[in-house]
Amino acid sequence: MSQLPVVEIRRREEFCAAHRLHAPNLSDGENLALYGPCNTLHGHNYSVEATVRGPVEPGTGMVMNLTDLMRLLQELLIGEVDHKYLNTDVPFLADVIPTAENLAVAFWNRLQPQIETFKGCQLTRIRLYESQNNVAEYCGLTTP
Ligand code: NI
Repeated sequence: MSQLPVVEIRRREEFCAAHRLHAPNLSDGENLALYGPCNTLHGHNYSVEATVRGPVEPGTGMVMNLTDLMRLLQELLIGEVDHKYLNTDVPFLADVIPTAENLAVAFWNRLQPQIETFKGCQLTRIRLYESQNNVAEYCGLTTP
């Protein structure tokens, strides 16, 4: 069997949501000192990018159909978080401080099992833009 090129594809979706950063184990004063203005309720225009790696199937010329990736992002992520208050309104973010880092990890955990159902495909990166300049990326690494 001839070797197939392995390519990464990426889909980007956008959502708007409100949050505040507040660590439950800290006092109100400590939270204000740590998070500053982010301790107050505010919102972001977020973007999320999911990168999927897999072989280019000769019969279709695709790794996976980007329409399927778009649908997964919409159903599993955007539909759950768009125009929501992330601290209280999203079941899969319960007990999560909604930083960009934690959102990237939570999105990965939700999306990754579904990507694996597509032949040869693996999720390699979630990139979460809180703003144009503030970005968190997760690629599945954990501490030893
Ligand atoms: Ni914020």
